[in-house]
Amino acid sequence: MQGCGNVRVLIVGMGNIGRTLLEIGEFEKVYFYDTADINVRGAIKLAEFFVPEDVDAVVECASSEAVKKFSFDILEAGKDFLVLSTSAFADRSFREAFFERLQRSTSRLIIPSGAVGGLDVVVALGKDMVEKVLLETRKPSVSLGMEASEQRVVFEGNAENAALLFPKNMNVAATLGLVVGFEKVHVRLVADPWLSYNVHILTVESKIGKYRFEMENFPSPSNPKTSAITAYSALKSLKDRCGESKILIG
Ligand SMILES: NC(=O)c1ccc[n+]([C@@H]2O[C@H](COP(=O)([O-])OP(=O)(O)OC[C@H]3O[C@@H](n4cnc5c(N)ncnc54)[C@H](O)[C@@H]3O)[C@@H](O)[C@H]2O)c1
Repeated sequence: MQGCGNVRVLIVGMGNIGRTLLEIGEFEKVYFYDTADINVRGAIKLAEFFVPEDVDAVVECASSEAVKKFSFDILEAGKDFLVLSTSAFADRSFREAFFERLQRSTSRLIIPSGAVGGLDVVVALGKDMVEKVLLETRKPSVSLGMEASEQRVVFEGNAENAALLFPKNMNVAATLGLVVGFEKVHVRLVADPWLSYNVHILTVESKIGKYRFEMENFPSPSNPKTSAITAYSALKSLKDRCGESKILIG
């Protein structure tokens, strides 16, 4: 697959995912904005947030607060907007305002599959075909900020509440909620003291088939909450939308 050599991006959040993207993306030009006082080689730091005119896309890999804070400026600038902190969309009033504004913008919203596989199937089925989605997420207790000696269900309920209560851990639930409707996604979050990686078991019931996907995602070395696959998934989505690939799969 060819790279993003002709793509200029603004990366919001130069943490674990941002740095990996910078390393593997081979972009023509990278700007970044981060609230932390950091410098990185190969990217132009913005002292204050703004959308440079020459960027093709803005990549958010910061936090759900950042999505809420900067979205409308990005839509105003008409740039393609790739969002990883999809938990932001669990906030209903933000969600409604965002999608209303998106309709009047030339921007496109790009949501990578991130840490969850099978999203291609869920998207292909669409809201009307999907009857029910069950997402069971199992994470090491420590990455949920807990010290436990046994497995514990820390949350059970719909995707909206899951992402509102655990924004850093439940982006996957919010992404599924956006595709099929938040009320159709039932989430169970389990803290497991013996796990060293993140597990998502996705079960989809639809009018034309039943599907089950199981992911064992190794955590990023620099942020155990984040699965290492996420940055690669973001790059794949960027290449599909803005890159030079002649072949698009998935
Ligand atoms: N969609 C998915 O499947 C998925 C998977 C993993 C992580 N994520 C999300 O992606 C985001 C980034 O993950 P990460 O592992 O790189 O996190 P990280 O903590 O390593 O890096 C985040 C960076 O963003 C910066 N930041 C935070 N809020 C900001 C703001 N308001 N403005 C500017 N900069 C800000 C921080 O200073 C930090 O440098 C997180 O919100 C995480 O929950 C999504």
